[in-house]
Amino acid sequence: MSQTKAIEYDVADMSLADEGCLRVQWAERFMPVLRQIRERFAEERPLEGLRVAACLHVTTETANLMLTLQAGGADTVLCASNPLSTQDPVAAYLVTKGIGVFAVKGENDDRYYEHIRAALEYRPQITMDDGADLVGSLHMLALQRYDDLAPVLRSWSTKLSEAERVEVVEGVLGSTEETTTGIIRLRAMAADGILRFPVIAVNDSYTKHLFDNRYGTGQSTLDGILRATNMLLAGATVVVSGYGWCGRGVATRARGAGANVIVTEVDALRALEATMDGFRVMPMHEAAPLGDLFITLTGDIRVIREADFLAMKDGAIVANSGHFDVEIDIPALERVSDSGPLQLRPLVEEYVVNGKRVVLLARGRLINLASAEGHPASVMDMSFANQALAAEYLRRMGSTLTADVHRIPAELDQEIARLKLASMSIEIDTLTEEQERYLSSWDQGT
Ligand code: ADE
Repeated sequence: MSQTKAIEYDVADMSLADEGCLRVQWAERFMPVLRQIRERFAEERPLEGLRVAACLHVTTETANLMLTLQAGGADTVLCASNPLSTQDPVAAYLVTKGIGVFAVKGENDDRYYEHIRAALEYRPQITMDDGADLVGSLHMLALQRYDDLAPVLRSWSTKLSEAERVEVVEGVLGSTEETTTGIIRLRAMAADGILRFPVIAVNDSYTKHLFDNRYGTGQSTLDGILRATNMLLAGATVVVSGYGWCGRGVATRARGAGANVIVTEVDALRALEATMDGFRVMPMHEAAPLGDLFITLTGDIRVIREADFLAMKDGAIVANSGHFDVEIDIPALERVSDSGPLQLRPLVEEYVVNGKRVVLLARGRLINLASAEGHPASVMDMSFANQALAAEYLRRMGSTLTADVHRIPAELDQEIARLKLASMSIEIDTLTEEQERYLSSWDQGT
């Protein structure tokens, strides 16, 4: 770890900071809602003196969020929420802005958890997660379940005095969570009665999941696959696993690019919706021999398994855009492969299975962030407006909230949508008094 102006940090190369600055400013052009929040924060300083630790993908968009929190008066540190998603120039630039960044693209597991340790060491009062790594680690510490922590965190935690352990855990007022996968974990914690503080489920806001998950994931997943492979989507058979908001986005965009899209699902309603949206729906074992490209976005484990790899056609390409690298059973692929992996291009690896080639992208990690730049800034504008307002809300109201998973108040969600529309110069109608009365009555219009 290095220090500059008394900030601790661990980034790849500080000489990349100028490049990072230009990239962050480019993203800022497409984030008008966050910009307005930043301007208000700079005047009102609602986060004055608050220690915020964020575990997010270190991208140009995240940089704009961190600068917004800083404008609001927060003292911030940032660590990566995925070992492959960090944009090293952005990490370096944020350090020059006085933010302690702990993130290096391609970091190994030990360094990844060393960075989570650094964020917790900072004694945050608010944590921001994309996948619940900070909150999960904090709770393992609180419950003294040291053996369930990654080795680096385990050895750190056993060296903490009891007073220090309590200080780390009890200092947290609340947390925010960016992604579906993280919220599933948090709800499980709440159901087990072990969640210790309120968490704002940013993903549950309409201005988050309807846009980021659908249009952001829809575009950036294909962007990652195209940058990695330069394959032609027109005419390809693309198998999309999972028809949540992210899967819907990817399936729709792939169809728009001329692909024949097959959807696999486990939920009857979603499968029905995919069918009526015009996609072919079938189980993975039927789709496996048909696909040219497979994309998993289910949030669950082992969606593509040994038998599926054996059934795939020569040259099939497999990618994941779900949060964790567990959806493609890579150990099974390694088990059944005669040879490999052979690196063909950056983050493109080929295995030979029964004489047929199976190509794995980004080692099964988030393809949109590993091989491209994640969601476009224009959509992260709304996601991160939610994050910034959630931090302000937790500061103001956190002590009144129960230790549960909460949504951001509906008025704030609406306000973000209004600001986004205004930034696009789109006006909408308002209800007349007569219409308002009609909507709140039951005895008119019969
Ligand atoms: N998740 C998906 N895309 C992202 C981005 N551009 N920045 C931060 N987190 C993301």
